[in-house]
Amino acid sequence: MNERLVRIRESERKSHTEIYTSQKLYHTDSWLKRPIKTVREIASHFDGYDALRVLDLGCGVGRNSIYIAERFQKIPCMIDCVDLLAIAIEKLLDNAQAHNVTSSINGITKSIEEYEIQSNSYDFIMAVSALEHMDSQESFLSKLFEIKEGLRKNGIVCLVINSSVEETNTQTQEAMEAQFEINLPTDKLQSILSNVFCDCEILKTTVAEQEYDIPRESCISRLRTNVVTYAARKTD
Ligand SMILES: C[S@@+](CC[C@H](N)C(=O)[O-])C[C@H]1O[C@@H](n2cnc3c(N)ncnc32)[C@H](O)[C@@H]1O
Repeated sequence: MNERLVRIRESERKSHTEIYTSQKLYHTDSWLKRPIKTVREIASHFDGYDALRVLDLGCGVGRNSIYIAERFQKIPCMIDCVDLLAIAIEKLLDNAQAHNVTSSINGITKSIEEYEIQSNSYDFIMAVSALEHMDSQESFLSKLFEIKEGLRKNGIVCLVINSSVEETNTQTQEAMEAQFEINLPTDKLQSILSNVFCDCEILKTTVAEQEYDIPRESCISRLRTNVVTYAARKTD
């Protein structure tokens, strides 16, 4: 790992550890307040299924997976939840217990890069604010193809990815290096997604501008990002 990657990963480890240990899933004003809207929308596509196999890449403490597990607890539902942070998987398993869905949650402490997605295995693969933290654009691109291969027929992918991220030091107003391992321009990211999933049915493709303050190593940074949400169904 190069120096930049080590620095960003260490800073992410600290900020995620802080939020995962101080905030209670679904009982907080932070981003852990509720599952994301697109996951809630996609869930209805699986109503009527008699079994469900799901993969959550960069799952955190299960904001989206616990919701799916609870919603489909009447059918056999197995969710492989992958995160490189041990504390995330620890809290995920606590949350699974608290929500009575332990039998549906398979916690895997591994990086997305290392986790090999088996072909034709999943009805639903999600990666919410996670793929932009992979170690290189090459790994990112090959993981997108692996995700497509990993979907079963009619399987759905849901990706939420930050793009064109800009950070500014709020005290000095100086531009700072964006603390994201992969920071693609929005149009390039959209073009990659439409090329990789060209033979899939697009269910959703949106870009939302967001702006918020975020604590960094030595200052508070004003972060501007275009959040790309992309959902598609594999049709063959
Ligand atoms: C912003 S959080 C989002 C968590 C979850 N997807 C959600 O929506 O609540 C990003 C998560 O991805 C994990 N992560 C970052 N880079 C990763 C990587 N290369 N492999 C696996 N997990 C990673 C982090 O540890 C963190 O838990």
